[in-house]
Amino acid sequence: MATIDWKNLGFSYTQTNCHIQYVWKNGRWSDGELVESPYIPIHIAASALHYGQEAFEGLKVFARKDGKVSLFRPVENAKRLAMSARRVCMAEVPEEMFLDACQRVVKANLEFVPPYGTGGSMYVRPLLFGSGAQIGVAPASEYTFLVLVTPVGPYYKGGLQAVKAIVLDDYDRAAPRGTGHIKIGGNYAASLYPHIQAAKAGYPVELYLDPVEHKWVEEFSTSNFLAITKEGAYVTPKTPSILPSITNLTLQQIARDMGMPVDVRPIAFSEVADFTEVAACGTAVVVTPVSSIERAGTVYKTGPQAGAGPVMEKLYKAVQGIQYGQEPDLHGWNVDVD
Ligand code: PLP
Ligand code: COI
Repeated sequence: MATIDWKNLGFSYTQTNCHIQYVWKNGRWSDGELVESPYIPIHIAASALHYGQEAFEGLKVFARKDGKVSLFRPVENAKRLAMSARRVCMAEVPEEMFLDACQRVVKANLEFVPPYGTGGSMYVRPLLFGSGAQIGVAPASEYTFLVLVTPVGPYYKGGLQAVKAIVLDDYDRAAPRGTGHIKIGGNYAASLYPHIQAAKAGYPVELYLDPVEHKWVEEFSTSNFLAITKEGAYVTPKTPSILPSITNLTLQQIARDMGMPVDVRPIAFSEVADFTEVAACGTAVVVTPVSSIERAGTVYKTGPQAGAGPVMEKLYKAVQGIQYGQEPDLHGWNVDVD
């Protein structure tokens, strides 16, 4: 195994021992097989390639202070993948099979879990796609489910460092009653062009507004939006077209446990300048503070220019403390790999 510089990992792919793969045919799933090669032979007419019939998930594994290794809230990812599968008419992965797949692939790659104290984690990427040949637009008759793992560090360089966001009013992420609430590749393909425009303008993240009025805050391209009001409440948008973030639900619970009011409600863009802190949250980005949001040439200050504001820092430390086993796991979120 190549030596890994654990403390300097970014969010990129590192080859591991294997991934796990299952095939659904004639109404049933195969038993699952650990496969060494990172390449898969795929039919040239597979529905995933032509019609984007696919969905994925993202969760993390942590090496804890007590020496154990655990998955963070995998049941929630299993449920969300099932919701995505139903919306794009794919065979569903039963919850038990999803959990077993994660356990088996992590166990087969334990030496790639960043050791406790390095600040890294193992990213687990379940992927479900139509692998059957399908030329007419219709659901495939065969599906492949695989789970790959790879050790990762922070999504944005520097960990708990603030990023600047921009609203690009020429682009929308998800239509009302569309597919914004599920985790399908098409949502991300559509985000690439605006993402490159934002990066060229010097902004690492884009904030999307509701496509109908461009009045309400939705989410970032890879994470949910959360903010702290002057009164000290945790607020996050209520809208059916964003991805229901498991990190956001986790942070809401942590905030409640700390005695903070939590308000899930429509948030008008006009409110952003009034917040004391804003952040992006998600499995990959954890809690990433957002220092300012630019829109149409105006820059709205949304937090400290560097680092994190006090509340985001507290939330970040609390969630990471539970994940790394430094704080009690009161809600049973860590699932041991055993
Ligand atoms: N929103 C989008 C568009 C995402 O891609 C992600 C990442 O998974 C999230 C939000 C955060 O979701 P979670 O906290 O479940 O990772
Ligand atoms: C995640 O946070 O798990 C994501 O899927 C975001 C991004 C890497 C697509």
